[in-house]
Amino acid sequence: MHYRRLGKTGIKISEISLGSWITFGDQIQEKIAVDMVHAAYEKGINFFDCADIYAGGKAETVLGNAIKGLARPTLVISSKVFWPTFEGVNGKGLSRKHILESIDLSLKRLQLEYVDLYFCHRYDPDTTIEEIVQTMDMLVRSGKVLYWGTSEWRAVHIIQAIEYANRTGLIGPVMEQPQYNLLKRNNVEEDLEPLTHQYGFGLTTFSPLKNGILTGKYNNGFPEGSRAAMENMGWLRDQVTVETIAKVREFVKLAEELEVTPAQLSIAWVLRRKEISSVITGASKMEQLDDNLNAAALVEKLDESILDRIEMIFSGTLE
Ligand SMILES: NC(=O)c1ccc[n+]([C@@H]2O[C@H](COP(=O)([O-])OP(=O)(O)OC[C@H]3O[C@@H](n4cnc5c(N)ncnc54)[C@H](OP(=O)(O)O)[C@@H]3O)[C@@H](O)[C@H]2O)c1
Repeated sequence: MHYRRLGKTGIKISEISLGSWITFGDQIQEKIAVDMVHAAYEKGINFFDCADIYAGGKAETVLGNAIKGLARPTLVISSKVFWPTFEGVNGKGLSRKHILESIDLSLKRLQLEYVDLYFCHRYDPDTTIEEIVQTMDMLVRSGKVLYWGTSEWRAVHIIQAIEYANRTGLIGPVMEQPQYNLLKRNNVEEDLEPLTHQYGFGLTTFSPLKNGILTGKYNNGFPEGSRAAMENMGWLRDQVTVETIAKVREFVKLAEELEVTPAQLSIAWVLRRKEISSVITGASKMEQLDDNLNAAALVEKLDESILDRIEMIFSGTLE
């Protein structure tokens, strides 16, 4: 496992990390989740990603149970706040009230005294940047959070937060968590990437397989037990279009030719960018975790000719 600095901070995180969305506390049994966390840890993953909203809080409970007994200083645990977790108008968003109420419950479920990374899970137009930065600064100074950042924020808002923090001597955001994969790349490449160099903050990107689509598993329908076959995943099934599948078929052929799996090729393609501190993977089975971990060895082998062929496939120019 390789470790990368989280932007300009001193903390180092595994370049491949494991998340818990949809899987922990929901799709998979707790024992499988716990075994997967332990296997990931054994193989060098130190960063485990979570959020208050995942499985209505159960993902944090499962992750908390899984890491019990592992040495706390060797772990980098994250959570997030924004989406509705309580009844009523103040049960969501980034107000000081909601953040302070949510972090305490996250820590309780995780059975931790602090989270290493805490993300504002979306931008909140109803709360000022000043209030958000002040609240996050308070959390860091109180010791409940070590580093804070954003998720799926536009660059303009991240800059506002960093500049306000710099002007006022408060602790600003140091990481952003965007979606980044072969089917969704503009936000990172056009909006965020130039900013990471200028402001020195890290990216922990999510959904490297576009919810599994890039593995080719949906090329001939929705296999039983897969994410897209789950009842409430109509939005994902809608993304599996004829046009997308045509590209994925070509991508699968390229992976076969290179004697790697499409998952490994997808994850290695994300990791080719050095400004990405970690790619957050998800897995419902141990074999998937093993498969995805093998992507690390592929990163250095992705030469220009392979990258060009990937570009051609996804720009639709391959005949
Ligand atoms: N900040 C945010 O807003 C946000 C949003 C989404 C995710 N995230 C974070 O990022 C993490 C990863 O996102 P994601 O789960 O969407 O990642 P993903 O890699 O795009 O999808 C993971 C899913 O693909 C399937 N899969 C994984 N590896 C596979 C393999 N080698 N072969 C075949 N199928 C495979 C599994 O689903 P099935 O087996 O069920 O098909 C797995 O659960 C989440 O857990 C969460 O921590 C953050």
